[in-house]
Amino acid sequence: MGAGYKAWLEYKRLDMSGERHRAYAAWLGNIAVNGEADHEVIASAVSELTRGIEGLTGAKPVRVSPAEAGGGCIAVGLFGSGHPLIDRVFGAEERAAAGPEGFAIRTDADAQCIALGAETAAGLLYGAFALLRLLGTGSPLDSLNVIENPVNGLRMMNQWDNIDGSIERGYAGKSIFYTDNEITTDYDRVRDYARLLASTGINAIAINNVNVHKFETMFLTDRYLPAIAKLADIFRAYSVKLFLSINYASPLEIGGLTTADPLDPGVREWWKRKAAEVYAAIPDFGGFLVKADSENRPGPFSYDRDHADGSNMLAEALLPYGGIVIWRCFVYNCKQDWRDRSTDRARAAYDHFKPLDGRFMDNVILQVKNGPMDFQVREGVSPLFGAMEKTNIMIEFQITQEYTGQQRHLCYLVPQWKEVLDFETYAQGPGSTVKRVVDGSLYGNKYSGFAAVSNIGNDANWTGHLLAQANLYGYGRLAWNPELAPEQIAEEWIRLAFGTADEELTETVRGMLMASWGIYESYTSPLGVGWMVNPDHHYGPNVDGYEYSKWGTYHFADLHGIGVDRTMKTGTGYAGQYQGPNVDMYESVDACPDELLLFFHHVPYTHVLHSGKTVIQHIYDTHFEGVEQAERLKAAWEGLRGRIDEERFAQVADRLAEQALHAREWRDIINTYFYRKSGIADAQGRTIY
Ligand code: GCU
Repeated sequence: MGAGYKAWLEYKRLDMSGERHRAYAAWLGNIAVNGEADHEVIASAVSELTRGIEGLTGAKPVRVSPAEAGGGCIAVGLFGSGHPLIDRVFGAEERAAAGPEGFAIRTDADAQCIALGAETAAGLLYGAFALLRLLGTGSPLDSLNVIENPVNGLRMMNQWDNIDGSIERGYAGKSIFYTDNEITTDYDRVRDYARLLASTGINAIAINNVNVHKFETMFLTDRYLPAIAKLADIFRAYSVKLFLSINYASPLEIGGLTTADPLDPGVREWWKRKAAEVYAAIPDFGGFLVKADSENRPGPFSYDRDHADGSNMLAEALLPYGGIVIWRCFVYNCKQDWRDRSTDRARAAYDHFKPLDGRFMDNVILQVKNGPMDFQVREGVSPLFGAMEKTNIMIEFQITQEYTGQQRHLCYLVPQWKEVLDFETYAQGPGSTVKRVVDGSLYGNKYSGFAAVSNIGNDANWTGHLLAQANLYGYGRLAWNPELAPEQIAEEWIRLAFGTADEELTETVRGMLMASWGIYESYTSPLGVGWMVNPDHHYGPNVDGYEYSKWGTYHFADLHGIGVDRTMKTGTGYAGQYQGPNVDMYESVDACPDELLLFFHHVPYTHVLHSGKTVIQHIYDTHFEGVEQAERLKAAWEGLRGRIDEERFAQVADRLAEQALHAREWRDIINTYFYRKSGIADAQGRTIY
């Protein structure tokens, strides 16, 4: 087991000599459970508590029956299951307040226990991890009184793993799920991943890439289903539902049919039979994740049908089993002519899906990518959020850092996600934030939630860059509760990963994480324009890498200016997809926020920003500053030498050194490009080539 493997489940020994931690001992000697603890998810909860407490305190708690508990224990039990301590501590009100996946934790001096109660086994599991988080971050235990429920129903992970062991946009090694066209039998690693996910509240996973290739199409057949069912067993013990990405053309590719037309009765029958087979193998199977008619993937368009036809056909097949269809909205013209300025990729999802509002079955969820272009460091928020009143919507984030430094650069993404979630759509007047669209409360949806592309692989520390673990951790925490502050999430992660003893370390690392998104943005593409990366692998600067391509990702820089005109008046009209005051804000070059100026407007290099700087000077300044800040990240970490185990220290030090060097590359290429285009010198006379 390499350094960093345990991630935030490190359970570093607390200093038990201090008063607070000494007081822990009074509560943590026994875990009192009744017979229901044989339920596999409750068994997971108890084993996690046992393991965590042993790690933190050095003493392994003993599992006892409630009758044996005596003075001081953790009592774990379902409401109404006859656990005397749980029955005694929690009244009707608390029981009602802790919903299906929620939990209540209360220290009760009279009952001499810390009681953890829930309506379901999943609730107990989340409660166990919450209690461990409290212990691991050093909270006092004598007056705990917590009731929590997840804000989002679906809290999902999307693996972009392929059966050959590769991971699309993976930056932390090979797949933990697949090797050489077979499903792994390294169940321990999968189980440890399930533990990490469940500990942050994740409750669903799609285990294969949304681009479903030949072998993965056969996941729906006997060739792979039995092995997939074994993975489902592992995830089930941690209350994580398994989903599969499917190939829309499956009836053709593995079914021997001549069409995949969603309105063809034979095709519909075929999917129904498939659903029956899948549910026979995995009775609690979650459903299908579908990328259709996108980036050369097959879909209903081939048959002159639309996305409602396509998704409803699958939804109908899954409905008898309670399964759902998650249908991605990342649909756009990927064979665009760069000469054509009227086609706008940012518009595409809205243009395709908004007209279909009201036509999707109840068990279809549309998965809307953040942002409307593609996971750039900065984009406008997708205007589809709030635009579909009668459709289940979930948001898709990218934890894997495709466009944000590929886990070689530090980029803590929680602040970016938070900004998107807090974005005001005005769909139902003020207060119609994105987070209320995706938690289903704005329109009272049946299904809703979060999905994100995972950033893990078989690297010993899971994420390659050790500090990128904070993104994985933070995603789950935010999906559980979007009100959490990015700083708080960062701090939790640091304490859980490195221990609570070193305040200065906590502060330093938190500062590094919190600054990192801004730093990455400053030395890469400016003012929301995006891209400017090397084609295909997307690492490193290449200003014109996509400028004359078919992918719809342009910056339109010439000798006068730069940016994409997305206004209604003179541009693509994208600004008009927003609602309420957002339309005017983005339409107007004066009102548009600086950080998105080039996303919405084509302006001269001499255009003056709200900051008082010209666009060109902003580009120069941020790129020079960004490199200095990247150097400072490196120095800050260097200051922690000797305070972290050597291996984890070195992992991060190496990456930060690469980042600082590579930031220079970005700076010099971007600055030089725009100096040569514009002919305008840097006001401060710094070196530009
Ligand atoms: C990005 C990414 C692709 C991926 C696609 C998607 O464009 O580069 O690798 O397949 O997103 O989300 O489907």
